Amino acid sequence: MNTAPLQGIKVIDFTEVQSGPSCTQLLAWLGAEVIKIERPGVGDATRNELQFDPDCPSYYFLQLNSDKKSLALDAKTPDGKAILTKLIAGADVFIENLHPGAMDKLGFSWEEVHKINPRCVYGTIKGFPLSSKYKDLKAYEPVAQVTAGAASTTGWWEGPDDVPTQSGAALGDSNTGMHLTIGILAALMQRERTGEGSFIYQSMHNACLNLCRIKTRDQLTLDRIGYLTQFPQYPDQKFGDFVPRSGNQEGSGVLGWTYKCKGWETDPNAYVYVILQRGEKQFELAAKALGFEDWLTNPDFNTADARDKHKQAIYERIGKWTIDKTKYEVTEILSKAGVPVGPVLSTKEIMSDESLYDGNTLVKINQGGKIGEFVTVGVPFTISNYQPVYGPCPTLGGDTDEVLTSLGYTADEQARFKANGTTAPMPAPAK
Ligand SMILES: CC(C)(COP(=O)(O)OP(=O)(O)OC[C@H]1O[C@@H](n2cnc3c(N)ncnc32)[C@H](O)[C@@H]1OP(=O)(O)O)[C@@H](O)C(=O)NCCC(=O)NCCS
Repeated sequence: MNTAPLQGIKVIDFTEVQSGPSCTQLLAWLGAEVIKIERPGVGDATRNELQFDPDCPSYYFLQLNSDKKSLALDAKTPDGKAILTKLIAGADVFIENLHPGAMDKLGFSWEEVHKINPRCVYGTIKGFPLSSKYKDLKAYEPVAQVTAGAASTTGWWEGPDDVPTQSGAALGDSNTGMHLTIGILAALMQRERTGEGSFIYQSMHNACLNLCRIKTRDQLTLDRIGYLTQFPQYPDQKFGDFVPRSGNQEGSGVLGWTYKCKGWETDPNAYVYVILQRGEKQFELAAKALGFEDWLTNPDFNTADARDKHKQAIYERIGKWTIDKTKYEVTEILSKAGVPVGPVLSTKEIMSDESLYDGNTLVKINQGGKIGEFVTVGVPFTISNYQPVYGPCPTLGGDTDEVLTSLGYTADEQARFKANGTTAPMPAPAK
């Protein structure tokens, strides 16, 4: 029995770069048939962006487009529009992430698609919500991070590194794709009851802001009392009227910091993150494991509120304790005592960890040819009765003939589409 959750769901994927493709990637791995529309001869911009070999699609493309079909289609030609209309008529989901206004211009807005196929769910990604004064802006990852409170609250708050800072995590791109996936799945469930598809508008701004919720929590607190006890600035420095950057302080009420470990002079990732919880019992475990039993009777440290006021002394003392131990030794000692702790891991360390090749966390896909095998991050959760299969990515337009044939187009018609630039680049004019 095929237990793929989205078996039988047909998705027309009019997305490119990362935000949209990360959504349709997940849908494909959950069993949907995903037909990716790509401009003839051009394709998804990531095919040729950051290539490791001029003859191969980049890892950027490969990591986001496995198990999809590629239909080369110019949706601006009359034949292209007719083909897309036919595709939509038989689809369950249509997803696009072109610049604001582009889909309306092409004639495939939500209203049009809904007329063609009222059951079709329509997902769209844009930079900003429709109510925003920035709604017409084109957007990439950093635009989302700087406008949603992520950059202004990330990084150092003093010294030469005091600049709004980007997260290495794709809060604006893949995060938006994951948010849209939730909307699409909800709309498919809703359609079971209503019989009708709905329109999911997902902005990168909203997806990023959703992950900055705790920073809005901090703003509310700051507005009320003028300071934030968990921040490294407390109690010695002044707070402004906005949430400042907090270095490596943990985002909640527990006291967490990044500490240097043995080898930091040559290894930029020789660091460990250690958390002191607020609970009495948990703090006692940590104090004993660190050998700082005196903290248990010292009024500057033996309550969570007191520790908030003396966090700089805590950072300093733990830092002296970690500096002659490796990040792994610190992790072992403290985790055995029940203290939340983790080593800072480089991408190299993560991708060389064989235990993560468990069929889902990191997966190897055999693309064949010159590319061979490549690694990607699999479906980020497991399903008890379904194991995704991770297949190769399509060549540009590699499934055009199959898709057109399935739509009933004859060989002559398909030849005409190629010749008139609908499914293949227009031949160069004769000199
Ligand atoms: C990513 C982004 C900035 C790129 O903008 P862009 O360089 O203008 O590229 P687009 O792909 O949106 O559109 C370029 C053109 O190609 C056209 N096009 C794309 N695919 C096509 C196809 N298969 N057939 C015909 N035309 C096509 C578009 O209609 C558009 O034409 P227009 O300029 O005449 O309107 C923009 O698409 C955007 O802001 N998207 C929304 C947010 C987003 O998802 N960002 C990406 C995060 S990874």
